[in-house]
Amino acid sequence: MRLVLLGAPGSGKGTQAARLKQHLQVPHISTGDLLRAEVAAGSKLGLAAKEVMARGELVSDAILLGMLEDRFSRPDTDNGFILDGYPRNLAQASALGELLARLGRPMDFAVQLDVPTELLVERLAGRAQAEGRADDNPESVRTRLGVYDRQTAPVIEFYRQQGQLTVVDGVGTLDAVFTRILEAIAPVREVG
Ligand code: AP5
Repeated sequence: MRLVLLGAPGSGKGTQAARLKQHLQVPHISTGDLLRAEVAAGSKLGLAAKEVMARGELVSDAILLGMLEDRFSRPDTDNGFILDGYPRNLAQASALGELLARLGRPMDFAVQLDVPTELLVERLAGRAQAEGRADDNPESVRTRLGVYDRQTAPVIEFYRQQGQLTVVDGVGTLDAVFTRILEAIAPVREVG
């Protein structure tokens, strides 16, 4: 199963990907987590990304692609993956298509978690209080949502036009959303 998980900040991508990873036994590749690990390690890449991420803007496409190529060179991705946080703009969607074609591992599905903006804001405010993530402050959340509308929404349209998009209602309990995702990806799992 080669799955791309799309959705606005706070839509539940990371939460559901962790469950899918257990269920499907494939790695969860989160570009946000990869970047946060670089920031925590204080690497050159992390230093370049830190302020951009805290503001809620996108880190450069070149950095992201290099990181992704590195990650996909590891053998645990041979049997599938759940990609979370990439692609976030049309240039990244095109780079991903080329990378996966080169690796002979085309994606099966893009799943979009659909959640209304008021609920996204509420969830991220809750996480800001609970975990203190640097980009969950109100100003950065506004920026992240704006970036999503301007740059990532066209990616969703792109996959829709390719016939590769499934939209899943992301509102409800974690179990309810998880069940909906499993139902949405069932056709590919049956073929596989
Ligand atoms: P990233 O880490 O990808 O952040 P994001 O897209 O803003 O996503 P979040 O982690 O905020 O939300 P999520 O959808 O994973 O929701 P979650 O499950 O956590 O990226 C961070 C930054 O890195 C970017 O802003 C950018 O700077 C950089 N970056 C990353 N990828 C990049 C790329 N490709 N190109 C350029 N830059 C890139 O859930 C959120 C909260 O809601 C949690 O508290 C959770 O417990 C709660 N929740 C989840 N589901 C439910 C539910 N059903 N009911 C109630 N609460 C729920």
